Amino acid sequence: MSGSRRRTQVAIIGAGPAGMLLAHLLRQADVDCVVIERRDRDYVEGRVRAGVLEQVTVDLMARLGLDRRLREEGLVHTGTNLACDGEVFRIDMAALTGGSAVVVYGQQEVMRDLFDAAGPRGVEIMFDAHDAALHDIGSPQPYVTWRQDGLEHRLDCDVIAGCDGFHGVSRTSIPAEALATFERVYPFGWLGVLAEAPPCDHELIYSNHERGFALASMRSPTRSRYYIQCSLDQRIEDWPDDRFWDELCLRLGRSAGGRVTRSPSFEKSIAPLRSFVTEPMRYGRLFLAGDAAHIVPPTGAKGLNLAASDVIMLSEAVTEYYRTGSDAAFDRYSDRALARVWKAERFSWWFTGLTHRFPDMTGFDRRMQTAELAYIRGSRAAQTVMAENYVGLPLE
Ligand code: APR
Ligand code: PHB
Repeated sequence: MSGSRRRTQVAIIGAGPAGMLLAHLLRQADVDCVVIERRDRDYVEGRVRAGVLEQVTVDLMARLGLDRRLREEGLVHTGTNLACDGEVFRIDMAALTGGSAVVVYGQQEVMRDLFDAAGPRGVEIMFDAHDAALHDIGSPQPYVTWRQDGLEHRLDCDVIAGCDGFHGVSRTSIPAEALATFERVYPFGWLGVLAEAPPCDHELIYSNHERGFALASMRSPTRSRYYIQCSLDQRIEDWPDDRFWDELCLRLGRSAGGRVTRSPSFEKSIAPLRSFVTEPMRYGRLFLAGDAAHIVPPTGAKGLNLAASDVIMLSEAVTEYYRTGSDAAFDRYSDRALARVWKAERFSWWFTGLTHRFPDMTGFDRRMQTAELAYIRGSRAAQTVMAENYVGLPLE
């Protein structure tokens, strides 16, 4: 059965952070857009992801006028901690970077702010849109079709923004020969736990322990988020709460581990780690942004922040196109976005390698990690490199 056929300027596939931030940026610039999302709002908002916002992302929420809760509830962290076999040391990010910091504010909160403001600001989202398909993406008049409520819909547009994550339809709509992909899959995962308990420290602790990596993080002063590295053949059932807390405390070391409040977990999941980049982030009038184009391992929490910087650049390209009528801005988007993406890929890969236990690691490899951590601990120069990457590199 036939449903609607209509037109907009930009069709956005996916209502995750990339799609929703882009939609708000475009609406602010008076560009019409429609967001097409496969799932419902509760699903998208409920997904537990990282929650460390770089200055670029905080500034974007402020520019959109969506930072009221973030300013009230976000936790400003001017430092972060590294640990080696239980010995914790602090990197004073603000002192090393001329005042930069990160803000701990969960992705779920960011999504709630973006969704709450969508209606009032005229950001239209089609939830439960199935079988989205992209057509004529190599032409200046592409269109998108999908199925919703048993009807077939069609949206004609000038531009399609592929913001539908790693498993979405956008990247795979591009002819394979037009793309190059680069990938590293890590031989372990992260087992993450959310617990209604005060965090063990007021800042994050990234811990390299001979039994494997551990991370102490948080969502608020009363909600902790912890992770431990696990092997990929393990299942949630292998990790009852008691076993998780024992292993976490061991890996965090006596001091930080001793401050962990053990309370029942209310979310527990295992995520694989991957580095992945697609080049270019464009094919004709289809532009990829966020996880649709690249994945980072979570060490350093760059995923959401890269989605934010991509869509800032994409919105600039789109608004320039409507201002000048020239494709020149489109031509620059991919190179500009990839320049920042690759630096964040490098940092996330390096930080993962520094802090995790690899199955084929030799005694020599482990000494290299502990020597590098000792070097960082004693060197202001090394700490500055770490700090400026962690707080986020500038947009160029
Ligand atoms: N049609 C419509 N929507 C789709 C389709 C499809 N075929 N495939 C996926 N989607 C939707 C998903 O349901 C999801 O809501 O696209 C959205 C993609 O969101 P994310 O995977 O979060 O990707 P992105 O917005 O790029 O966010 C990047 O946020 O979730 C984190 O790990 C992610 O840190 C990364 C950052
Ligand atoms: C998180 O709080 O979920 C988190 C924090 C920092 C990371 C990754 C995840 O590097």
